[in-house]
Amino acid sequence: MKIVVIGAQWGDEGKGKIVDYLANEAQIIVRYAGGANAGHTIVIGGEQYALHLIPSGIFYPDKIAILGAGMVIDPKALFDEIKMLEDRGIETKGRVLISDRAHIVLPKYIQIDKERDAARKKPIGTTGRGIGITYSMKCDRDGIRIADLAWKEKMDELDQADLDFLAPYTDKLLEMSVDLGTYLMHRKNTQVLFEGAQGTLLDLDLGTYPYVSSGMSCAAGAAVGGCIGPRAIDKVLGVFKAYSTRVGNGPLPSEFDPTAEDELCRFVRETGREYGVTTGRPRRCGYLDLVSLRYACLSNSIDSLVMTHLDVYDTFEEIKACVAYNINGKIVETFPASVEDLNNAKPVLRTFPGWKKSLADALTYEEFPVAAMEYVEFIARYCETPVDIVSVGYDRKATIIRKSPWVL
Ligand code: GDP
Ligand code: IMO
Ligand code: MG
Repeated sequence: MKIVVIGAQWGDEGKGKIVDYLANEAQIIVRYAGGANAGHTIVIGGEQYALHLIPSGIFYPDKIAILGAGMVIDPKALFDEIKMLEDRGIETKGRVLISDRAHIVLPKYIQIDKERDAARKKPIGTTGRGIGITYSMKCDRDGIRIADLAWKEKMDELDQADLDFLAPYTDKLLEMSVDLGTYLMHRKNTQVLFEGAQGTLLDLDLGTYPYVSSGMSCAAGAAVGGCIGPRAIDKVLGVFKAYSTRVGNGPLPSEFDPTAEDELCRFVRETGREYGVTTGRPRRCGYLDLVSLRYACLSNSIDSLVMTHLDVYDTFEEIKACVAYNINGKIVETFPASVEDLNNAKPVLRTFPGWKKSLADALTYEEFPVAAMEYVEFIARYCETPVDIVSVGYDRKATIIRKSPWVL
């Protein structure tokens, strides 16, 4: 069985936590998009790990973690991450593989990324990890792939500085490289989890362009970047937070008002620990945006939603969610392509009663307070998609499974 886990908002939905949880029943975990711009947090019994490139299934000693063809990989960041894991007692040898089609991020791309974004009239606020430049080189057919490291003619085209950078990593990268499509074809009956990075609204095509990342973070990206055909995917899971966050610039229609709702914003940011894992930047916060969540469900064929951070609302008297946009006096329930429309959109909010009780003690969904269940069920109805998993804390254990995705 092949399950894809994607972000259904602007990234940081808790994909790492959910992939780590679900990986228990998988044999192979494939990251299919993005690079070290991602920051996936996993908390296991009080130990916290931040992963940027390596798939979140690495913490189980018997799983194979593969960096897919859709990724852009900074070798230094990769080997730093492997060292961090080894130093903390996670054995990685022979378990981390890389698609021979994945692209390589060179130091000069990182430099150009930073300079170009700073020079923009309206910066995107990139993570400065060379992501957009590496994908541009790929599209321009000037990129360097893992397989190319063994191609002398191609290597001869590189500057000495690039060769010097690559030299200590080349043999190790080639040793880890794999023809991913063939590898998966030979393991047809294994359980494979495809881990997305970023989120639908940061996807190059589906997102709030140009305020997006440059990879395919959508569900379709799992097929391309995971080297399988789209019909080989059995299920798509969309992870979303009980509210909205965004790092960097670009539209966030349901963002908390910086003056009137400053206290609310601060509470959510501190309680949800809303600071970027990769850059440390405070995340912008807002109400749950159901218009964009429904758009994510439709455009990714999401079968099942995974809701995270519901616990952040535990002490609230009432909770609000955005159910439509008011764009210059017109009520809109579909997600517009125009950034201008999104910038002008005022959220139409619906209020729900709070539950004023800790969700941490519930072992099953049925033990949730009625008000919490009503909030969850409203979302499922609005999005016409079931919410099958609810996360009520950052630890691996704080996960309530209503229906396991591994059961067909
Ligand atoms: P990712 O990029 O989608 O993997 O998400 P990040 O790791 O960037 O951000 C999610 C943050 O929320 C991390 O600090 C997680 O430890 C934390 N987290 C995940 N799920 C929950 C949850 O259900 N409740 C709370 N309070 N925190 C959570
Ligand atoms: P995970 O996988 C949140 C954002 C950046 C910036 C924009 C473009 O942890 O959810 P880039 O460096 O990719 O060119 O930056 O995309 N961004 C993310 N925001 N979570 C992420 O990944 C992100 N990856 C990129 O902040 O606005
Ligand atoms: Mg993140």
